[in-house]
Amino acid sequence: MKVLIVGSGGREHAIAASVAKSTKVDKIYCAPGNAGIGELAECVPIGAMEFDKIVMFAKEKKIDLTIVGMDDPLVGGLVDELEAAGLQAFGPRKNAAILEGSKAFSKDLMKKYNIPTAAYENFDHAEAAEAYLETAKFPVVLKADGLALGKGVLICKDLPEAKEGVKSIMLDKKFGSAGNQMVIEEFMTGREVSVLSFVDGKTIKTMTSAQDHKRALDGDQGPNTGGMGTFSPSPFYTQEVDAFCRKHIYQPTVDAMAAEGREFKGIIFFGLMLTEDGPKVLEYNARFGDPEAQVVLPRMKNDMIEVMQACIDGKLDEIDLQFEDNAAVCVVLASEGYPVSYEKGYVIHGLDRFDEKEGYYCFHAGTKRAEEGIVTNGGRVLGITAKGRDLKEARANAYEAAEWVTFENKYMRHDIGKAIEEV
Ligand code: AMP
Ligand code: GLY
Repeated sequence: MKVLIVGSGGREHAIAASVAKSTKVDKIYCAPGNAGIGELAECVPIGAMEFDKIVMFAKEKKIDLTIVGMDDPLVGGLVDELEAAGLQAFGPRKNAAILEGSKAFSKDLMKKYNIPTAAYENFDHAEAAEAYLETAKFPVVLKADGLALGKGVLICKDLPEAKEGVKSIMLDKKFGSAGNQMVIEEFMTGREVSVLSFVDGKTIKTMTSAQDHKRALDGDQGPNTGGMGTFSPSPFYTQEVDAFCRKHIYQPTVDAMAAEGREFKGIIFFGLMLTEDGPKVLEYNARFGDPEAQVVLPRMKNDMIEVMQACIDGKLDEIDLQFEDNAAVCVVLASEGYPVSYEKGYVIHGLDRFDEKEGYYCFHAGTKRAEEGIVTNGGRVLGITAKGRDLKEARANAYEAAEWVTFENKYMRHDIGKAIEEV
């Protein structure tokens, strides 16, 4: 069959690598893709938000399955448009992708269906938000309602900072229309865990757990980024935590969406915080995590296409989802200065040393092919993933492999997965 993947990041490279292993697949296209994806797929210069062009391309090439990797096109309704044209697509429709697309929606859903999350209020006027803050407990968390590249969350330590935050989100529109509404919520403490799952509308099957490092600098300092590295599994995600989440979070979320007439098919990514009062939902995403996919998918034993097809057909209960009994760590190589300002266009060396069979992966994010070779083309450039028998070995392998690759303004964190040493 012919598969089209929509997106251009490290996540889409990891998806492409999984899809390429499927015995069912003859040809992969990617819109728009990157230099690494180009080794596995034919990249076509169509942007992820160019719905008409994507639909036209999929029809023309007789694509059997389009996999939408990114949040923006999902929330914008690309899956609906593909289906309306008689094409098969993997990912939630627009009315279900709202689970990620609107934080106000997802908070109200959790409240209505008793799914544990931080206490909150929604606001659509800055004055009301400011009045609420007068009596709030600090620190407090401000969230722009819509998609903001993972950056629409502000943790404010006191009233002046929070008022400034409301102003930047709702009045100055720092995150654009994402800030037309906002959520103010209770600040929680605890370890964060990412759990990705396949969903077919009624059945949910979770994948192995992972943990992301969102801050730019070592020691979880500096500004939030899209993610500087991940490890999988999370040793803090115990059987007890898993049992609690199954009962109170995972299936209840799928059932809640169905009850609301918003049947969810695709990936639900649960961003969890393990608080003293038990696990709570920080956020939902309607897609694979980036860079969570880069540590979870290389450990998946199933044929990716079979699992996705089962989600579409409502037959996920027939799939026995299995993961290798090992570990993986992904270290992101970024351009120095990311996420604020950075230079690009530098030639990348050392890309040919990676061998998947030995458990080493080099997932491309911001790269492109130029006359002089493959060059940097973004803030996050590559995700270096290595497997190991356990997290310690995977971590050592990933940091060894991270040295194989060089480019002029290469930057990485040195403490990805370090927390596992505390276990
Ligand atoms: P989100 O996009 O909602 O996942 O938020 C991004 C990051 O902000 C999360 O990964 C957490 O580190 C942090 N965060 C979000 N909500 C809260 C909260 N209620 N309490 C503490 N930290 C939070
Ligand atoms: N790594 C976090 C995300 O994909 O949203």
